[in-house]
Amino acid sequence: MLPREDNDMLTLVSPDKPMGKLMRRYWIPALLATEIPEPDCPPVRVRLLGEDLLAFRDTQGRVGLLDEHCAHRGTSLFFGRNEECGLRCIYHGWKYDIDGQVLDTPAEPAGSTLKDKVRQISYPCKEAAGITWAYLGPKDKQPLLPNYEWMKMAPENLYVTKSIQDCSWLQGLEGECDSSHLSFLHKSFTGDRPRGGGDGDLYAADSAPQLEGIEMDYGIRMLSCRKLGPESIYLRVSNIVMPCHGFIPTGGINGNPEGYTIHSHVPVDDTHSMRYNIHFRRNRPIELDERQHDEEIGPDFKKIRNLQNNYLQDREQQKRANFTGMGPIFLAHDACATETMGPIYDRSQEHLGVSDMTVIAVRKFLLNAARAVESGKEPPHIIRSAKQNDVRHVACIATKIPASRDPKAYVVEQLKKDKYWEAEN
Ligand code: FES
Ligand SMILES: [Fe+2]
Repeated sequence: MLPREDNDMLTLVSPDKPMGKLMRRYWIPALLATEIPEPDCPPVRVRLLGEDLLAFRDTQGRVGLLDEHCAHRGTSLFFGRNEECGLRCIYHGWKYDIDGQVLDTPAEPAGSTLKDKVRQISYPCKEAAGITWAYLGPKDKQPLLPNYEWMKMAPENLYVTKSIQDCSWLQGLEGECDSSHLSFLHKSFTGDRPRGGGDGDLYAADSAPQLEGIEMDYGIRMLSCRKLGPESIYLRVSNIVMPCHGFIPTGGINGNPEGYTIHSHVPVDDTHSMRYNIHFRRNRPIELDERQHDEEIGPDFKKIRNLQNNYLQDREQQKRANFTGMGPIFLAHDACATETMGPIYDRSQEHLGVSDMTVIAVRKFLLNAARAVESGKEPPHIIRSAKQNDVRHVACIATKIPASRDPKAYVVEQLKKDKYWEAEN
């Protein structure tokens, strides 16, 4: 159970709220790079942390993220003309560059200096891993973009999708903290290995895994241990990485050396979030049958199975094939579990058990980080130097280890290796 004030502190993301201020200290995903594929293409609307923004790619290929409403009299720049290194409002022709500088005010008399006095709100952007990342925080506090191993991956080794979630960002993120739901929500009765990975038999072997949340410099490292009999343990190591990412060892034991999955739960506003799914393969292109979300997400980034259509649940399938009756893809299962809690779940109503211990650890970490910013301190995982940007310890593991071995010591040992993912199975 969480007091109401803490629930508000964790979920509300406008610029004046503690979580809004915390989120604004990091680079966060703003859109897919493919949404603005080429210079001077049409701009796209981006709602981020409760702000209505507009992304565009200028003639030189640079990305700008501006307030959607023109600084002159507020017309939406979505309808503007993207031309000659700037976006021009269709009402009176004011033109802005990617930094929000006013380049032209053609309805003003010659010699007017109005354009030098006005600035459109703009936020810096960087492109990496098929995503346009934005920084919405104070200019003098802008950090470096984190150097996760997948940030500079070749495009063909990456599969990045996004879908809108009809609930607070935290509900999505909490789904990443909770390894025990794998044994239920995603259970298949047919023995089929789900597309996108997973070791269903291992999840089923022990439905009450032993969980541990370890505080790290970047967030929480989460260990879950399932007993596979007297001799061995199925160990999963996943991470909550500041401010809103889950790093998950998908692909199961056999897929583990190939890569892992990142789910980012970016707040759109207090009651909606954008879930980014980033899959990568270290040494090969993503194959067609690994593109598990192509048929699950519509062109408008709405899920085909969604809250409004009850996730197209099939009760017969629920009897015969899987736990949910919502097909084999985890995206719909997770969405149903989290969106049906309501737009912002009131956590003062919940009843937590031992299986929620990592959820509790993550909330505590986030609350401490939000309070740190409130008191003028720097929050965790703000990267300012190359040394801080050595982030190889943010790592996912899924493996079997002997029951005699201490899982925590195993992880520390494993991560000392250059290729930690080549676990001893
Ligand atoms: S409202 Fe945009 S130029 Fe006047
Ligand atoms: Fe899940």
